[in-house]
Amino acid sequence: MVGAELKQERPLLPVEDSLDELARLATTAGLEVVGQTMQRMDKINISTYIGPGKVEEIKALIGELEAGVVIFDDELSPRNQRELEQVFGEDIKVLDRTALILDIFALHAQTREGKLQVELAQLEYRVPRLTRMWTHLARQAGGRVGGMGGGVGLRGPGETQLETDRREIGRRISHIKKQLEAVRAHRERHRMKRQQTELKVIAIVGYTNAGKSTLLNKLSGADILSADMLFATLDPTTRKVAMPGGREVLFTDTVGFIQKLPTEIVAAFRATLEEIQNADLLLHVVDSTHPNALEQIEAVEDTLAELEVDQLPMVVALNKCDQVDDPAELAAELEIEGAVVPVSALTGQGIAELLVALEAAMVQALHPTHVLLPYKRGDLMSLFHERGQVDAETHGVDGVDIYGRLPSRLLPYFEPYKVSDERTVRQTR
Ligand code: GTP
Repeated sequence: MVGAELKQERPLLPVEDSLDELARLATTAGLEVVGQTMQRMDKINISTYIGPGKVEEIKALIGELEAGVVIFDDELSPRNQRELEQVFGEDIKVLDRTALILDIFALHAQTREGKLQVELAQLEYRVPRLTRMWTHLARQAGGRVGGMGGGVGLRGPGETQLETDRREIGRRISHIKKQLEAVRAHRERHRMKRQQTELKVIAIVGYTNAGKSTLLNKLSGADILSADMLFATLDPTTRKVAMPGGREVLFTDTVGFIQKLPTEIVAAFRATLEEIQNADLLLHVVDSTHPNALEQIEAVEDTLAELEVDQLPMVVALNKCDQVDDPAELAAELEIEGAVVPVSALTGQGIAELLVALEAAMVQALHPTHVLLPYKRGDLMSLFHERGQVDAETHGVDGVDIYGRLPSRLLPYFEPYKVSDERTVRQTR
């Protein structure tokens, strides 16, 4: 594993910690880490990313450690990858963090949508790197092109091959995009259906390994809460949970975040992340035992901002507090704004308090609204009751007059029936 730090840049994580994370990623992908090295440098070397001395040092290490793969913690350009492979030799695979993450996603993708998204991200990652594939394919085509041999530098037939590859990949990409659109349309229909059930949605977000899935399981576990009901028509990671006040809400688990998460991966997972955009509230799960908990919080907040959902109300769950001596002290140290609740998804500690905090946050996030709904808009009346909070309701000749609070997302539906301040004032007089 190779880490690099640019002297003038201040990364989120120190290079040593980022390499530890890379090692965990590598292990997850089924690799065995045999060694690591790092370089502090003034600027990126355009041909080999790191400096020539370091490249030679790594080459020697490869021989010594009998390594088969070299993984860079930072994104390599196609040229970097090619030049490094030339120095290290044919049998040595040069990867970067992005390729490794994509590999893990490919291993773990379960649903059809997940698999399509990963393949799309992989292909988009591969397109600019096609020259390498060309070299490879050109070599295979060596016999066919009249003994011109193969390898780098082959012109003519090689170029044609490259164009063919590009076209093929391009075709595959648009095919996948079409399929993804179909899956998304299908999911959108389910989401609309779900909105008709008028349940509030809480999206669980967090750094990878924070304990999101464990928490979702605990929350929906029959032993703590009334129902462990898999909402059959939804993504399998969405569960219905009864809140202390008696209302039911939906919790939905989302893909874990990680620092240096490349934009193409975030983009590929946009469909899954739409779940977040459509949520009423975010539940940010933090691994409070992690030495870089603060940096992980920051990475999650950055990603949320990138997805333009950072304005949604949020509750932070400081998870794994069964392993922390003084969770309250830790919460103060992390200086998190808003509601923070120490929990343990494993033992169930703090879960009841978390649900109370989530309920309170949902009420707080509502906007005061006054509407006069005609009787024919029974749909909006029930929407108000289910997703908002009704403070006063009077049945009159023109319809139902409701004073209450609504999530900002639903305000547009009620806009035509809003009672203006002027009218409110006149009525009061
Ligand atoms: P990704 O799928 O990578 O995004 O992870 P995740 O956030 O869904 O985490 P997951 O629920 O898979 O948990 C990660 C690890 O943390 C597992 O080994 C859990 O057993 C462990 N874990 C989760 N919650 C707790 C907790 O409250 N206490 C302790 N001690 N361990 C926990």
